[in-house]
Amino acid sequence: MLENEANPTLSKSTGLPRKRFYRARAHSNPLSDSHFPIPISPHHVDYSLHYPQFFPSPDQTDSSKKIQFADIGCGFGGLLISLATLFPETLMIGMELRDKVTEYVKERILALRTANPGQYQNVSVVRTNSMKYIPNYFEKGQLSKMFFLFPDPHFKEKNHRRRVISRFLLDEYAYVLQVGAVIYTITDVEELGEWMKTCLKEHPMFEALTSQELEADPVVKLLSSATEEGQKVARNGGQTFRAVYRRIAPSL
Ligand SMILES: C[S@@+](CC[C@H](N)C(=O)[O-])C[C@H]1O[C@@H](n2cnc3c(N)ncnc32)[C@H](O)[C@@H]1O
Repeated sequence: MLENEANPTLSKSTGLPRKRFYRARAHSNPLSDSHFPIPISPHHVDYSLHYPQFFPSPDQTDSSKKIQFADIGCGFGGLLISLATLFPETLMIGMELRDKVTEYVKERILALRTANPGQYQNVSVVRTNSMKYIPNYFEKGQLSKMFFLFPDPHFKEKNHRRRVISRFLLDEYAYVLQVGAVIYTITDVEELGEWMKTCLKEHPMFEALTSQELEADPVVKLLSSATEEGQKVARNGGQTFRAVYRRIAPSL
């Protein structure tokens, strides 16, 4: 019997997990306390669980290789899957609040690893609340790219505090980003696009990339095309609003 006949959650033709077995609520409340394991510090993140080919044993203390890209609210993981082959030596992780969606991404990565030996070993996902636990996963100056693609808009003013980009959260992101690192944001909600751009523009530790820099960065092209949400917006002919900023050293 074929393996996928035994496991109906995997597609018979592609071997990839089928989304209908991972239905999730449209939203999760980022301010509520969910129950999932949280590493007490970045040193306690077990890299061997996430990247077994790079870290065959749980003892990673001597390793200088660390996660460099974080996709915040990664959804079904489309961006990470594209980045994994574009940057095969870079460790990257998706952070996702919804458990079933996280499970789907896990299965997707495992299926891709099986179908493509040696590839997709640098990509992983974790179920967590990025609004609370970023410093548990990353050290000061660790990350070189952070992604916030089509984040939940939280339209009502009283819910703006649930937005994953805010003045206060940018302080935290500036802490875990190295100088020169880039934050990528995109949305199809104009008001949220303005909000994210204003937060970044007004923050002393970020500056906008120039149009030439945006043109030269291969990752920028993926922002609207690689994620499931971006593809949905493109199918519906929707407009997108992008803000891409670099972490700079504070001026003295
Ligand atoms: C609209 S979806 C976009 C998904 C993906 N970035 C894309 O473009 O297809 C937003 C995702 O962010 C997740 N999310 C919202 N708040 C979060 C938080 N505080 N921590 C982690 N994930 C969060 C949601 O569960 C949802 O999957």
